[in-house]
Amino acid sequence: MGSMMAESDMKTLEESKPKEPILYVNGVRRILPDGLAHLTLLEYLRDIGLTGTKLGCGEGGCGACTVMISYFDQNSKKCVHLAINACLAPLYSVEGMHVITVEGIGNRRYGLHPIQESLAKSHGSQCGFCTPGFIMSMYALLRSSEIPPTKEDIEESLSGNLCRCTGYRPIVDAFRVFARTDDTLYTNTSSSDLSDANFTCPSTGKPCSCGMSIRNDKDTSQNGICHSNNLKPISFSDIDGAAFTDKELIFPPELLMRTLTTLSLEGANGLKWYRPLKLQHVLDIKARYPHAKLLVGSTEVSIETRLKSFHYPVLIHVAQVPELNQLTIKDEGLEIGASVKLSELAKTLKVALDQRASFQTSSCRSILEQLRWFAGAQIRNVASVGGNICTGSPISDLNPLWMAAGASFEISDCRGNRRTCAAVNFFLGYRKVDLASDEILVSVFLPWNQPYEFVKEFKQAHRRDDDIAIVNSGMRVRLEEKNDKWVVSDASIVYGGVAPYSISAKETSEFLIGKCWNKELLQGALKVLQKDILLKEDAPGGMVEFRRSLILSFFFKFFLWICQQVDEHMSSDEKVPASHLSAIKSIHYPSVMGTQDYDIVKRGSAVGVPEMHLSAKLQVTGEAEYTDDVPMPPNSLHAALVLSKKPHARILKIDDEAARSSPGVAGIFFSKDIPGEHMIGPTILDEELFASEIVTCVGQVIGVVVADTHENAKLAARKVNIQYEELQAVLSIEDALKSNSFHPNTERCLVKGDVEHCFSSDQCDKIVEGKVQIGGQEHFYLEPNSTLIWTSDAGNEVHMISSTQCPEKHQKYVARVLGLPMSKVVCKTKRLGGGFGGKETRSAFLAAIAAIPSYLLNRPVKITLDRDVDMMITGQRHSFLGMYKVGFTNDGKVLALDLEIYNNAGNSLDLSLPVLERAMFHSDNVYEIPNVRIKGKVCFTNFPSNTAFRGFGGPQGMLITENWIQRISMEVNRTPEEIREINFQKEGSVLHYGQRIEQSTVERLWNELKMSTDILHARKEVELFNLQNRWRKRGIAIVPTKFGISFTAKFMNQAGALVHVYTDGTVLVTHGGTEMGQGLHTKIAQIAASSFNIPLSSVFISETSTDKVPNASPTAASASSDIYGAAVLDACEQIKARMQPLASQHKFGSFTELVKACYMERINLSANGFYKTPDIGFDWTTGKGSPFRYFTYGAAYAEVEIDTLTGDFHTRRADVILDLGISLNPALDVGQIEGAFVQGLGWVALEELKWGDAAHRWIPAGCLYTSGPGNYKIPSINDVPFKFNISLLKDAPNDKAIHSSKAVGEPPFFLASSVFFAIKDAIIAARAEVGLTEWFPFDNPATPERIRMACVDEFTKPFCDADFRPKLSV
Ligand SMILES: Cc1cc2nc3c(=O)[nH]c(=O)nc-3n(C[C@H](O)[C@H](O)[C@H](O)COP(=O)(O)OP(=O)(O)OC[C@H]3O[C@@H](n4cnc5c(N)ncnc54)[C@H](O)[C@@H]3O)c2cc1C
Ligand code: FES
Ligand code: FES
Repeated sequence: MGSMMAESDMKTLEESKPKEPILYVNGVRRILPDGLAHLTLLEYLRDIGLTGTKLGCGEGGCGACTVMISYFDQNSKKCVHLAINACLAPLYSVEGMHVITVEGIGNRRYGLHPIQESLAKSHGSQCGFCTPGFIMSMYALLRSSEIPPTKEDIEESLSGNLCRCTGYRPIVDAFRVFARTDDTLYTNTSSSDLSDANFTCPSTGKPCSCGMSIRNDKDTSQNGICHSNNLKPISFSDIDGAAFTDKELIFPPELLMRTLTTLSLEGANGLKWYRPLKLQHVLDIKARYPHAKLLVGSTEVSIETRLKSFHYPVLIHVAQVPELNQLTIKDEGLEIGASVKLSELAKTLKVALDQRASFQTSSCRSILEQLRWFAGAQIRNVASVGGNICTGSPISDLNPLWMAAGASFEISDCRGNRRTCAAVNFFLGYRKVDLASDEILVSVFLPWNQPYEFVKEFKQAHRRDDDIAIVNSGMRVRLEEKNDKWVVSDASIVYGGVAPYSISAKETSEFLIGKCWNKELLQGALKVLQKDILLKEDAPGGMVEFRRSLILSFFFKFFLWICQQVDEHMSSDEKVPASHLSAIKSIHYPSVMGTQDYDIVKRGSAVGVPEMHLSAKLQVTGEAEYTDDVPMPPNSLHAALVLSKKPHARILKIDDEAARSSPGVAGIFFSKDIPGEHMIGPTILDEELFASEIVTCVGQVIGVVVADTHENAKLAARKVNIQYEELQAVLSIEDALKSNSFHPNTERCLVKGDVEHCFSSDQCDKIVEGKVQIGGQEHFYLEPNSTLIWTSDAGNEVHMISSTQCPEKHQKYVARVLGLPMSKVVCKTKRLGGGFGGKETRSAFLAAIAAIPSYLLNRPVKITLDRDVDMMITGQRHSFLGMYKVGFTNDGKVLALDLEIYNNAGNSLDLSLPVLERAMFHSDNVYEIPNVRIKGKVCFTNFPSNTAFRGFGGPQGMLITENWIQRISMEVNRTPEEIREINFQKEGSVLHYGQRIEQSTVERLWNELKMSTDILHARKEVELFNLQNRWRKRGIAIVPTKFGISFTAKFMNQAGALVHVYTDGTVLVTHGGTEMGQGLHTKIAQIAASSFNIPLSSVFISETSTDKVPNASPTAASASSDIYGAAVLDACEQIKARMQPLASQHKFGSFTELVKACYMERINLSANGFYKTPDIGFDWTTGKGSPFRYFTYGAAYAEVEIDTLTGDFHTRRADVILDLGISLNPALDVGQIEGAFVQGLGWVALEELKWGDAAHRWIPAGCLYTSGPGNYKIPSINDVPFKFNISLLKDAPNDKAIHSSKAVGEPPFFLASSVFFAIKDAIIAARAEVGLTEWFPFDNPATPERIRMACVDEFTKPFCDADFRPKLSV
């Protein structure tokens, strides 16, 4: 029995007087029952039906679970409001607090909160799965800000929230209206170019950014144009004013009055939970349970228990122990209680900076700076100083600083005996610290600095925001002036990320002491450092050469920084040259600014209008239901998968005895239990539903367990013991080539002209060969795969709700494995929380798996994958290898291309062949190549099957092309732009697969972009910057694209729709496409509304369902609005044709009147529409045809700046121009462009999949290391180009698609390669500084490791050659 007790009454913990633990959720008082100590706050909220808060990752890395907690702080006598990650917070940790979720701040019935309204109207929600998290982060910021926050505060508060759809710009714009009103806000910097800032909002009359760049309206009179109806900006006064305060949930009075009490509660499996409120109580419990686990924010402990399956039977929550929360500015230094939260620490450090002399606070400044890049706000709001220290992580950001700054730790044992341990002596081994089991950390003491003592922090991570360090460091020196020289009197150099724990470079520190701070010291120290910190070749984490270089680079930066600190006292020959100061220049990260420039050409009542996403209001309020939010029917079960742990092995024995007797288990099913067919697959049936004898990848499904809870199902699945006989595994494309491991019948060849002849004749001035390696990419849709499946009529019918881009495949797979006709299986999809290709085929095998227990037990079964499992088993964008030989003239005209291209398919074919084919089709990008031979093959490897991903091979094909284009430019000494231009395809060009170019807009786009970005001037400016800065370089690039629209399999280019007109004049549309955030339903509804000439609000699209529209192709290939739009139009036109006789006879006051009259005349008001794309087809036997209906063209310009010493980079500017014909909905199209570009930016510069292969021997063979947001980094808000300008080509109607529009989903993705080539441009400048002017290979993605290692200098030379190529899983 759990208990709660007033402190005064407490004698011993077990003699407590019970009181009820409570929690307020959205203003409602809830008693917390005992026995729930194992639950997270998120699980609890979702269990009580508050499903607005989402589970995206379960590891604090995505922010989808953000809620606000409020409590009354007795010290400050104020309510504290904090955004936290509900997925990590143990339920009882918020006892006595008020939790506000997205449902608590506004809804459609009672009104949206201005934050919700602003986000919806700014098009800041696409799939909507991340949306509640963003809303809550912003809400918590506003509730906790005494004055309106600054724009920087806003962006910082969102750094722990990920969005995979929008590209963040609209989110920033939506929230910026709540920023402190200042000159810049109201002089139009929020979404426009700074230089062009005079727009007055038509709706408010105030200067603002809402529509300045929307020009050339063709229909201003009817439209209400730009944002006046749709995008009314909201000002801060709206939320500050009376209009909303009366709706704001207040802090519950009961909680104001309530005295905090200790807690003693329990959880599953005998788990004990204590909340002591005095240090003595903590020590008492620790004395009783020496192995009890302390926790504060639980950002480590929850990861251990939930992701790593650690079991801690006794938990002591010490977050509210006053003695552990001291934060005192003393005469000698700062005393920091072990439970002090990082956000609190940051505040106090700022106070110290104000109160103490500047020289005393060098350590404070460096800790503060390090905290800026420490996790996201939600983590910093709960994570504690002591938790970070006691974890003893080798990559802790703060431990190197405590050590370097000379901090000491106060430790108490259970008897209250105290000792002090210097931070430098505290860390003993991997996650091992100098604490006995009966000891706890009480506080940290940070001494003030002495005069001329300087402390500096360093950190390099994959991503700037919310990422753990690759290498970090804390460095301190104290100088004294002797004989006009600066001599080191004390030093401490500490590194993290280079050993199993944070370590001191002791010999280096000693070496420094007594030396003059000059170049000799630098050279000497660098030499000592190389021997002092040794990183083994096979060190876990890999990137050994990079990490070694960073050790030196950081010290070099420190050296320069110190020089700068004492600059005026330095003799002139020791002064740092101005260009070298670039090594230590701090970067100002301005708020993201963007312009969106497009025409609005309205057709009918709705087409062409920038309407907001039809589900936006549901999404911003958390009311939108995703598959996992659907309430489970009675008697439901949860499924968990039994997965292979070997990449290639024979299954010798499966022992499931322990699993069967595990709590809550209802059944375990293997291959032998499948009632229907065992083999599945979208193109050929080459995949076993459950591996029976041989496993061919880690993560292959061997069986499925169903149990009463998800946790119990997972626990039982872990208990299934499988014995294997390991077999030789193929773990890369290179391996596959060596062992001739290809999927059968996947060899492809496209030929134009005569390559051999061109190479052997003397037409080519130069012929070069090269190899392009392109890594894979995880979809990272925010909503993991999920299906709920149930039977009816005792298994005669099967129904499911799935998060899928292809309900038809779910229907087909399920019917097949159950041995049922497809007519008895129905799959419905309302919306997806993102798909990007990842839920086109790979979701279907999960539905089929869940169908087995559901059918056999006749019970509903839900399968929702954990993020790590989803990433591990459902496949990714294919990695590619391209080997090219290209011949060209001295002025750069391409004459011949011989290309071999391979993709890594993994262990089943899935869609890998059409992916390869599209890569081959796009291997010309936009260039005329007279002689071409492209050969392609699909590699079989022992990895999970790779699959579709936005672009479907096209980006990989084009990236290979742009690599050799860029190479030609270096070979002939011309700019890449010049090479691109002279090779452009022309109107009428016949491509290497026989299609003829018609209505090409590439040159128009190119010229407009060159003009708007003034590329010649930009190049000059970059050159000047590079001349003046030795350690920072800028680069620019401008890249075109041409993307073929249609499925390359002709039969898939068909679409169906069902349109019903009801007697109240409203219209229900169903079509075969799915809504995954891209706004398909919105565009389709606009088409239907325009067709009937009715308001958009009269059209509704509820869901996609296989029983309404049969045999639908997946929502993919960008073509859905083309084909489903045409099918819906067909249906509407049929109904209109039936109405026409009546309509022409009478004058009806409204559409509703006409409909009613038709009904009375017994006119059929329902129609099914159909469309098949005309004039397409391709024949692989001849290698010729027209696979595409048309092409979407675009071009992008990017400007980047890199730090050559660390590989850090940022995109200063990106401009994208796309030809989308006459847009169906320009706001949604802009959203697709921005989202695709930022996702593409992830692919080219941030996201690296690391697999256990020859390149990464420290990872178990075949396993995915980057299996969560913790170590797989998609772009965050801080990665968006500082200036991000999007424009749509004007006056370019496309007569080949509906309403003259063009497809948008995939084409802009590749344009992010402009960032890749701009980075390479900057690296070329860096290499030129050391005399390296030759071409060099540079693999995708351009991570900090690749950037840094390509910028060869004295800090890389000790570890590798100039042509070093960091390892990549390909
Ligand atoms: C998404 C995410 C991002 C992160 N980013 C970073 C980052 O950028 N940099 C970084 O350094 N870390 C990072 N971390 C790691 C983690 O957040 C920090 O280590 C954090 O400070 C831990 O604090 P906590 O209060 O949550 O620890 P808890 O999980 O509550 O405890 C951690 C450990 O400390 C022990 N402990 C706590 N208090 C005491 C005490 N007084 N005496 C003895 N033992 C004690 C606990 O028993 C436990 O073993 C990140 C974690 C997550 C989940
Ligand atoms: S679900 Fe909590 S941060 Fe991702
Ligand atoms: S809208 Fe942000 S993840 Fe989809």
